[in-house]
Amino acid sequence: MEKELVIVIDFGGQYNQLVARRVRECNVYCEIYSYRTDLARIREMHPKGIILTGGPSSCYEEGAATCPPELFEMDIPVLGLCYGAQLMMHVRGGEVARAAVKEYGRTEVKVDTTSRLFADVKPNTVCWMSHFDYIARMAEGFRGIASTANCPVAAAEYEEKKLYAIQFHPEVLHTVEGSRMLYNFVRNICGCRGDWRMDSFVEENIKAIREKVGRGRVLCALSGGVDSSVAAVLLSRAVGEQLTCVFVDHGLLRKNEGDEVEAVFGPGGNYKLNFVRVNAQEQFYAKLAGVSEPEKKRKIIGEEFIRVFEEEAKKIGAVDFLVQGTIYPDVVESGLGGESAVIKSHHNVGGLPDYVDFREIIEPLRNLFKDEVRKVGLELGIPEHLVFRQPFPGPGLGVRILGEVTAEKVKIVQDADAIYREEIADAGLDRELNQYFAALTNMRSVGVMGDERTYDYAIALRAVNTVDFMTAEAAEIPWDVLKRVMSRIINEVRGVNRVLYDVSSKPPGTIEFE
Ligand code: XMP
Repeated sequence: MEKELVIVIDFGGQYNQLVARRVRECNVYCEIYSYRTDLARIREMHPKGIILTGGPSSCYEEGAATCPPELFEMDIPVLGLCYGAQLMMHVRGGEVARAAVKEYGRTEVKVDTTSRLFADVKPNTVCWMSHFDYIARMAEGFRGIASTANCPVAAAEYEEKKLYAIQFHPEVLHTVEGSRMLYNFVRNICGCRGDWRMDSFVEENIKAIREKVGRGRVLCALSGGVDSSVAAVLLSRAVGEQLTCVFVDHGLLRKNEGDEVEAVFGPGGNYKLNFVRVNAQEQFYAKLAGVSEPEKKRKIIGEEFIRVFEEEAKKIGAVDFLVQGTIYPDVVESGLGGESAVIKSHHNVGGLPDYVDFREIIEPLRNLFKDEVRKVGLELGIPEHLVFRQPFPGPGLGVRILGEVTAEKVKIVQDADAIYREEIADAGLDRELNQYFAALTNMRSVGVMGDERTYDYAIALRAVNTVDFMTAEAAEIPWDVLKRVMSRIINEVRGVNRVLYDVSSKPPGTIEFE
């Protein structure tokens, strides 16, 4: 049976991967291409539908991201979102202009439920708006099918041509019935059967990896976190003993984590892997001494990592491939995901510098969100306690210690974090929260302990609820739990006299502190 494909054309908005993800949730396979991709190439893939994403430009400005008019004449359903909607109108002769009132955030919208796009959607619903331009006049053949107080054309359709435009963002969860709208498009309007499943991802990837690797040797960067563990098990299933997993203890791991990782993946553990542990703590601390600028720290940790691998690779002999557990949010936020802006550089993303002697890099999870990675993990039979482990950044505590990293500060944050995690688990909150940790602020303040004046650090506690790690809300941890954590940290961890709770959401904050 022919494989069904929906293509998402990326115009550079921050939510673009979410679009792909929602399509995959409808059990339809989906790939993302830059708007610069040749139309002939897109046609060759025989997509069942095309979605144009949001983006930061104004379509009427010179040099703005655009698409050829033929895109709308291929007899393939097209859905334009936000910038994509405006572009559809602009290219087909409608008018897009700067709106008198910029709309941002949750907005009430009235939809015309006779449109197939809004089948089973409530006539009054809530959507997520984020735009400064608006559709001032629809192109010929279109009719308006949604409006808000400030936006007369919040959605439009040209049913005979199967062209649909939505000014708001159905891919964002704040658009309460957005998933239903996207389902209506891909399943009902594009007519996709929806028979794509995660197990096809696993099987197809194992096959693709085998073909790519051939008889080559593979080195895998194993951190013990969800992503690299899933990548390692996927690889070991694909190429067995051609794989060596190297675990670098960079001294920026959580308390006792190095030994825990070794217990699971090492010789006495659950998997048949060639496992090598490198204890490089001192090497990393030395490189980080005196450095406090976040991007510089990330860069140092990333480069040191590569160097350690290079050394290991030399010991192991010729290595053809390096595996990394990069996942999609890493890619987007590093600005490598096509068209979106750089927020912070993740050290474990990207090509290898020239001086590293590997032939190629393999990133089997590059297109997946965290919860999709977990599904793959379960599919691969990885134990649940590993699959549902909370994410931990590649640069580790390096991005949770603000300012200069020292062995002493590492110990403080490790101890505080261990207490916090213990109390969260005891309170039964560990499965509810998507990520929680202690960070060491660079702030020292005056306190009093016993009869003595202290001048010690403040620990910041963070706990967030999130679906995709692209947006997040601070969790409302019960006060008594916070008080217990505070009292234990202050009593048990030397060098700390204050505990703060971070209530910021993302955006504008990020989940990590650096
Ligand atoms: P931020 O702080 O960007 O984090 O909101 C989003 C998610 O990504 C994790 N994170 C990283 N993961 N390498 C990683 O593998 C990194 O450099 C990195 N920085 C942040 C973070 O823990 C959160 O889950």
